[in-house]
Amino acid sequence: MQDNLNKAQRLGMLLTVLCIFISASTIFVVNAEEGINKAAIFGPGDRKDGYEDKSYVTNSLSVTARRGKPTDLLQFVENPPLGLPRIELPESNPITKEKVELGRLLFFDRRLSLNDTFSCAICHIPEQGFTSNELATAIGFEGRSVNRNSPTIYNIAYHTVLFHDGREDSLEQQVWAPLLAHNEMANPSIGYVINKIKGINAYDGLFEAAFDGKGPTMETVGDALASYQRTLNSANSRFDRWYYGKEKDALTYDEKEGFSLFMGKAKCAACHLVDKDYALFTDNRLHNTGHGYATSMGIGPDKTRVQLAPGVFVYVENELIESVRQQPKPNDVGLYSVTQNPFDRWKYRTPTLRNVALTAPYMHDGAFTSLREVMEFYNEGGVPNELLSPLITPLNLTEQEIDQVVAFMLTLTGDNIKTLVADAFAAPIGDLSREDPNWAHDTDLK
Ligand code: HEC
Ligand code: HEC
Repeated sequence: MQDNLNKAQRLGMLLTVLCIFISASTIFVVNAEEGINKAAIFGPGDRKDGYEDKSYVTNSLSVTARRGKPTDLLQFVENPPLGLPRIELPESNPITKEKVELGRLLFFDRRLSLNDTFSCAICHIPEQGFTSNELATAIGFEGRSVNRNSPTIYNIAYHTVLFHDGREDSLEQQVWAPLLAHNEMANPSIGYVINKIKGINAYDGLFEAAFDGKGPTMETVGDALASYQRTLNSANSRFDRWYYGKEKDALTYDEKEGFSLFMGKAKCAACHLVDKDYALFTDNRLHNTGHGYATSMGIGPDKTRVQLAPGVFVYVENELIESVRQQPKPNDVGLYSVTQNPFDRWKYRTPTLRNVALTAPYMHDGAFTSLREVMEFYNEGGVPNELLSPLITPLNLTEQEIDQVVAFMLTLTGDNIKTLVADAFAAPIGDLSREDPNWAHDTDLK
């Protein structure tokens, strides 16, 4: 950033950046079957001229490039892929095909937000690992900031502790947080959402068929969304085929070395658990790695690298970014905000590492863009603070060993990703039509 730019010019630039972020965040299309090609990225409905620049990497494709193919999702619950255990289902919500299909409709339906634009999938983007690769922290309704990174929904059935700060433990209940958050889907009340769903023709009879005659309620909406999300299980990765499937050649020498380090010298498996018959790569507990502490205390570089346009980067002082926020950035203290116990400050839930190659950026605030950065953080022993987990210490790994652990983590991508993404594309995205309850609020115009 040049010093002679005045504050107004800088503000203008930042607003431009924000617009770029917003447009990047509202695109959710990819051709799962054919991979990415240029024509598919720059199609109508989503103009991104100039974005072919080498420095701008995106996996988002144009709306017209979306190819869907429904799949039998229940199979991934009834027979979880190799490397995953049996799924514990809550007694109150047995899974059925009808619930899963209904949940899938709801998950992708943009009409579930106040202004009919935001579905769950706008932040949990199927072709981006069911997270948002292009945003460190989420952006919700009308561009409002969310202060945390969107976690992946893959294998969420196995997370018994939900959200980065562990404030929920039930998928059935969790859904109401984004539906009602003013900076996410911004619905004014539970009743508002229920009434809106009742008014949408596409749902006629579906709740009743899935829930023994019961229509949309706070419970049935939660049960349906939870049922769909519980099917998104992905394993049988190269690692699983090697470790559990005993396929000797499924991993390379370096990847196997990386696994030994992960289990031994690097001590990763103390929290990212690997069991004899399956591996969740999480202990479903919360720990202080020092990353939250560092962010909260402003430890780190005092400038942020910002992309203004494809290939155009500037370094902006953090102080300036802070000065143009709508509201000051809230101090994120992790589990403390749930328990009010000072010893819980900066503790965050251990995320699974399955499919981690697809779910950048990393940590609760998306601060690290690559797995190598994450490894360098751990190698230095996190960030020391009085509440640092005793399991986090300097590791003294060599450059080669760091590369090997990274290589190992890249083997954790499940083999059914394309199938799950293609299935997601087969779901309608809830385009507003004249029959919908919110149609332009324009009764006068009709
Ligand atoms: C504006 C972006 C946004 C939208 C829209 C959104 N989410 Fe999320 N989601 C997030 C963020 C950010 C978090 C983490 C929040 C936290 O930890 O405080 C999250 C967390 C979750 C989690 C917990 C994941 C975990 O690993 O603990 C689930 C499950 C989830 N969302 C499902 C949904 C569903 C279902 C919907 C639609 C009803 C939805 N989300 C809509 C951004 C979004
Ligand atoms: C003390 C427990 C603990 C140990 C040991 C540990 N981790 Fe973690 N890991 C965590 C927690 C907690 C987070 C989330 C931190 C946050 O969100 O700020 C995390 C986050 C990560 C992430 C980011 C994942 C994502 O989706 O954001 C990666 C990658 C990771 N760890 C890899 C490793 C590796 C590799 C090792 C060994 C070098 C390791 N971890 C050791 C607890 C641990």
